[in-house]
Amino acid sequence: MKMIWLIILSAWFIGYILIGFLVRCWTKFTNRHFESNNINLKGKTVLITGANNGLGKGVARFMANKGARVIMACRNMKTGKAVQDEIIRESGNDQIILLNVDLSSFRSIHEFCSKVIATETKIDILIHNAAYAGFIKKAVSADGIELTMATNHYGPFLMTTLLMDLLKKSAPRRIVVVTSKCHSVSYFTPQNEKHLNPIDCWLPLYQYSNSKLANLLFTFELARRLEGTGITVNALHPGTANSEIWQTESRIMNLSLYIFRKFLRSVNESIQTTLYVSLSKELENVTGKYFRNCKLGKTHKIAQNTSSQKILWKESEKIVNQINLGLTL
Ligand SMILES: NC(=O)c1ccc[n+]([C@@H]2O[C@H](COP(=O)([O-])OP(=O)(O)OC[C@H]3O[C@@H](n4cnc5c(N)ncnc54)[C@H](OP(=O)(O)O)[C@@H]3O)[C@@H](O)[C@H]2O)c1
Ligand SMILES: *[C@@H]1O[C@H](CO)[C@@H](O)[C@H](O)[C@H]1NC(C)=O
Ligand SMILES: *[C@@H]1O[C@H](CO)[C@@H](O)[C@H](O)[C@H]1NC(C)=O
Ligand SMILES: *[C@@H]1O[C@H](CO)[C@@H](O)[C@H](O)[C@H]1NC(C)=O
Ligand SMILES: *[C@@H]1O[C@H](CO)[C@@H](O)[C@H](O)[C@H]1NC(C)=O
Repeated sequence: MKMIWLIILSAWFIGYILIGFLVRCWTKFTNRHFESNNINLKGKTVLITGANNGLGKGVARFMANKGARVIMACRNMKTGKAVQDEIIRESGNDQIILLNVDLSSFRSIHEFCSKVIATETKIDILIHNAAYAGFIKKAVSADGIELTMATNHYGPFLMTTLLMDLLKKSAPRRIVVVTSKCHSVSYFTPQNEKHLNPIDCWLPLYQYSNSKLANLLFTFELARRLEGTGITVNALHPGTANSEIWQTESRIMNLSLYIFRKFLRSVNESIQTTLYVSLSKELENVTGKYFRNCKLGKTHKIAQNTSSQKILWKESEKIVNQINLGLTL
């Protein structure tokens, strides 16, 4: 009897490794590469959130190597400083600025944007990359907003509106929103008031997929609002990558994800679509689109619901303003 279980378990484990390996070969083989040989970013300013870790760090390093002035918007200043030093050392580019922001806090975003407006004359590319994926814990921001929605949607929403005058100063400009294929499993409907701040619900991945759908609704509405201004707004799915997003608060989850992570795309592979959407010449006039694997992608149809896009915008304005009332900045 024991023998049978041993065989079943070994077969399962070997099958898991084998399938994982095959999938990895497939994703490596089909991963498209952004052709960047003749890219020169001298004189360009790129602002990227979550630049201290994962995909954001990879993108910041790339931009620095190409000569851009890079504003790293980071929550963790300790790892932020280490990455800033590393990038400056590696690229020989000293125009790498580290600024503190906690995207889950409206106050912190106001402070961050005031600093950016005081020190920068322009932003050429704004990349909303940072995100929080609370897999198992229920959490609420300092402003009383469910933490995933606060960090992934309301934070970037507020930051964009506060930086809009600076962005508009001289065209062309690009706003790039890193979302996820995961939006397809979302049930998020801004028409339902409870969905706007889902503090009572904590199904795994529920909040994350909702926030990633919100990213798309935001992208399409903003693109429409900025039509004709010379500012383009596009979203993308980077691919499933072995970044720090898989670190969780639980040791057991950490351990069980350990092998799984080895089967995912590397950070350098996964930043290609962000680079493509941020820099590619052929996209200079393209706006309100979604990309994956360096080409046009199709979102789930719920992301194309214009009424949801408009309602989310209106409600987000209310939420970020309501809470600002109490602030003295
Ligand atoms: N990895 C994937 O498989 C995958 C798949 C689809 C989409 N994406 C998207 O890709 C983007 C990058 O993710 P990643 O994989 O690179 O994740 P990651 O390694 O976990 O990095 C996330 C970054 O966001 C920052 N961040 C989190 N909460 C923040 C807050 N409140 N304020 C400021 N910064 C905050 C983190 O800072 P700390 O270091 O302080 O935590 C970190 O720098 C995200 O938008 C994610 O949704 C990733
Ligand atoms: C999860 O793993 C990461 C490293 O991959 C580690 O930094 C973190 O502390 C771990 N968390 C727990 C609770 O073990
Ligand atoms: C990713 O690319 C950068 C710069 O091109 C390089 O320095 C780094 O070693 C690469 N990382 C990995 C893990 O290949
Ligand atoms: C974008 O629009 C400008 C102005 O209309 C035009 O000069 C340029 O060729 C266009 N670029 C592409 C790639 O279509
Ligand atoms: C948009 O979503 C709302 C709420 O779910 C729904 O009532 C409406 O029919 C949808 N509109 C379209 C065009 O699908």
